[in-house]
Amino acid sequence: MPSIIYIITLIIFLSWNRNIIVSAETWCYDTVNPLEQDNPKPVRCPAVTEKQDNIFHNVGINPNASTNMFEISFTCDPSANQTTCDKAKESFEKAGEIFTSVLSLNTPIRINASLVSLSDDTVLGSAAPARLIPLKCKDKKIRNFPQSLVKQFQFSTHPEYASDDIIAVFNSKCNFYFEGDPTITPDQIGFLELIVHEIVHGLGLVTNWKPLLNSNTVTELTPALNLTSTSTSYSDKSDPEVYYGFIETIFDSFIVTNEGNRFSDFTEQLNDFTPYGTKFQDQSAFISAFINSPEYNVSQMVLKYSQTANTMVFLANPHSELIWLESNITPYSKGSSISHFSMEIYDNTTDFLMTYLQHPGRSLETALQQNNATCVIGPKLLYLFETIGYATPNNPNPQKPSLIESHPVKSKTTSWKNSTTTTTTTTIDTNDTTTTTDSNDKSKPTTSNLFSSTESIIFNNNNYGWINLVISLSVGGLFFISGGWIF
Ligand SMILES: *[C@@H]1O[C@H](CO)[C@@H](O)[C@H](O)[C@H]1NC(C)=O
Ligand SMILES: *[C@@H]1O[C@H](CO)[C@@H](O)[C@H](O)[C@H]1NC(C)=O
Ligand SMILES: *[C@@H]1O[C@H](CO)[C@@H](O)[C@H](O)[C@H]1NC(C)=O
Ligand SMILES: *[C@@H]1O[C@H](CO)[C@@H](O)[C@H](O)[C@H]1NC(C)=O
Ligand SMILES: *[C@@H]1O[C@H](CO)[C@@H](O)[C@H](O)[C@H]1NC(C)=O
Ligand SMILES: *[C@@H]1O[C@H](CO)[C@@H](O)[C@H](O)[C@H]1NC(C)=O
Ligand SMILES: *[C@@H]1O[C@H](CO)[C@@H](O)[C@H](O)[C@H]1NC(C)=O
Ligand SMILES: *[C@@H]1O[C@H](CO)[C@@H](O)[C@H](O)[C@H]1NC(C)=O
Ligand SMILES: *[C@@H]1O[C@H](CO)[C@@H](O)[C@H](O)[C@H]1NC(C)=O
Repeated sequence: MPSIIYIITLIIFLSWNRNIIVSAETWCYDTVNPLEQDNPKPVRCPAVTEKQDNIFHNVGINPNASTNMFEISFTCDPSANQTTCDKAKESFEKAGEIFTSVLSLNTPIRINASLVSLSDDTVLGSAAPARLIPLKCKDKKIRNFPQSLVKQFQFSTHPEYASDDIIAVFNSKCNFYFEGDPTITPDQIGFLELIVHEIVHGLGLVTNWKPLLNSNTVTELTPALNLTSTSTSYSDKSDPEVYYGFIETIFDSFIVTNEGNRFSDFTEQLNDFTPYGTKFQDQSAFISAFINSPEYNVSQMVLKYSQTANTMVFLANPHSELIWLESNITPYSKGSSISHFSMEIYDNTTDFLMTYLQHPGRSLETALQQNNATCVIGPKLLYLFETIGYATPNNPNPQKPSLIESHPVKSKTTSWKNSTTTTTTTTIDTNDTTTTTDSNDKSKPTTSNLFSSTESIIFNNNNYGWINLVISLSVGGLFFISGGWIF
């Protein structure tokens, strides 16, 4: 009796990791099309002030909250089957209702979703937070937050929002199963489970730990690098670069090793590699200095953790609930490793949703039954949402970060050792959160080819009777690829 093992790789990808910027004002990073292979676009997100009407302060819940706090702008390929388009739209509505029922959302979340014919048949779809916004955590560290979460904090003044919170694309060529269809066939992909999984990434289950160097073999992982070009040109790699450390996502700040060491401490060690404001001749000078520094071994060690089973844990508040993360893929797989729940531990549990593989031929209904689950958002996943800052009925007052304040800073810009004692003093314009125009700003985001800006498609036909395809794009998004075989 042939059985089909058909495995889908769910990959998530954070966009802006390799080209973070700095300047006196706040920069955010946008993913416009998760399938485009450009680097995500750095954008200025100057402070804007909300109309009072839109602020609910700490009440938690919008008095107008409806049963679906998700606004879906859905685009369907005109050539696609209209029935399919309608069913997909319905699934998005359903997904929105599911999230609305478990989270206490006070501000609607906008998803820009499309079902279009993608050139690569193996890509099921992809999704990403449309914008990541830097905010300051209680420990004074600045981390990247997904826009959908930032909105729930109800800041009266906040970095400007992108028009959408989550951007998602799905492939109309795929054989999807929709709720209500006749029995699912073994090769069909449950659409509802797929989109719920992706929306979770769009809501904040995203990591900034990525390979720093764009080489075929991954040799290290670091959080997103904040390296600013002093040039006015986007593409000139030979201009001096100023180092401002590595930035985590809010999700990253709760990762610990099985021995209890916080990944945030690793970030801090990496950040100590050289003082903030250190100037490098160009990007290669930075890379060469970094990989030759004693701190580099920290990033190599993190890579090791990401490839060793049961070594990475998301430590959820407030009950210190442990959520084991995916660290058993060798070699490290960008988009699959770290940003998923452990496959071995959670595949057949109520928290099956966020493993990196989705079983084809299984509808969400069946998945829930098989795992004795009442809700697709499992208990651990709900703890995770609460921990990164989403309010829920059981946790109405989650931790809230603050805006990056402006305080006058005189930063000493020291050049990396090699050059002779060039010490310049730079005054940082500290009115970053309130300044909206700054035409003299010479700092421009670096869009670097040195970093992970290329696409790589790994076709990995291994010995275990399944095909695992991984697509890695530098654009951010969640890439689902399927391959399959019968044996
Ligand atoms: C990079 O660092 C600079 C200086 O601390 C800061 O102004 C800027 O907002 C940072 N960029 C990001 C994306 O966090
Ligand atoms: C969705 O996003 C794409 C890419 O940014 C954009 O072209 C499109 O207009 C958006 N659709 C809607 C309905 O906003
Ligand atoms: C709530 O709903 C009322 C009536 O539809 C509307 O006038 C008001 O603007 C809404 N408030 C918010 C904050 O959306
Ligand atoms: C669209 O798909 C449905 C099944 O999902 C099928 O019954 C129908 O014939 C298709 N319509 C067209 C125009 O292909
Ligand atoms: C990295 O190297 C430095 C200096 O050689 C050493 O002090 C540190 O303990 C090492 N860290 C790790 C994680 O190996
Ligand atoms: C989960 O259960 C299915 C069906 O019994 C099985 O094929 C699969 O190997 C299990 N997953 C893990 C990680 O044990
Ligand atoms: C679900 O519950 C049934 C009956 O209590 C039990 O036999 C089965 O092992 C449970 N399945 C899982 C995956 O826990
Ligand atoms: C260091 O400075 C020397 C002399 O100016 C130069 O030849 C060399 O290329 C520099 N090394 C780096 C890594 O910039
Ligand atoms: C910052 O803003 C304050 C008042 O809001 C102003 O007095 C000060 O000159 C500004 N500083 C800079 C560097 O623009």
